[in-house]
Amino acid sequence: MTRKKIFAANWKMNNMTAEVATFFGAIGDSCVALKDREVIVTPSFPYLAQAAALAKGKNITLAAQNFHFEENGAFTGEVSLTMLADLGIRTVLIGHSERRHVMGESHEHLRKKVAFAQKKGFRTIFCIGETLAQREKGELFAVIDMQLSSAFDGNLTCPPEDMVIAYEPVWAIGTGVNATGAQAQEMHDYVRKFMDKHYGRKDITILYGGSVKPDNVKELMTMPDIDGALVGGASLKADSFSKLIFWDR
Ligand code: 13P
Repeated sequence: MTRKKIFAANWKMNNMTAEVATFFGAIGDSCVALKDREVIVTPSFPYLAQAAALAKGKNITLAAQNFHFEENGAFTGEVSLTMLADLGIRTVLIGHSERRHVMGESHEHLRKKVAFAQKKGFRTIFCIGETLAQREKGELFAVIDMQLSSAFDGNLTCPPEDMVIAYEPVWAIGTGVNATGAQAQEMHDYVRKFMDKHYGRKDITILYGGSVKPDNVKELMTMPDIDGALVGGASLKADSFSKLIFWDR
């Protein structure tokens, strides 16, 4: 099966009204005819509606960086999947290292988010990745096993295309030090085999994230098990993000 490549911009807590307008103005219609790859943008919540209006007709998918696993109610500061659906959004990030390590989201919390996203028919980009200390201690594969099995055990019911995994080594995020093509490929191959063995999902889409830039994108994207990129810093402006989307042109 040929897996469609995905280039996803994770803007994190960056880009406001003017930058959002500039980004969509600059990216223009460049993605309209794309068929072999999908472009995703995840703005901060206050700008989702603005971005959704600007992305209309541009063949760019909007996604959300976060949500809460309850339907609605007394959850100050949280955003529900029903609200996202109301804006036409059906793709969400779960398990980003900043949510795990900075916001303290536990395996159990993430398991609930995965279950709820599936129940509501959302597509999930589920992020995994080891810290440098874990890699140096030889715990790399054990950490990934734990992150995958704690989130999915008995819980992976969505259609195959609705579960995308993003391997983002924590030491590569925002550091300028990306995993080499070989390091990333080793893990993507491992994750693909893990998902096949435990869930029968051999053709799952697996993205790489962590300091993806125009000068390393080719090395990463030519690896057989890397199906695209989840990008922070280099996705904030249309010119650098376009160089990633169109890395092979
Ligand atoms: P950088 O591309 O800035 O390293 O961020 C990666 C990331 O965390 C994407 O989710």
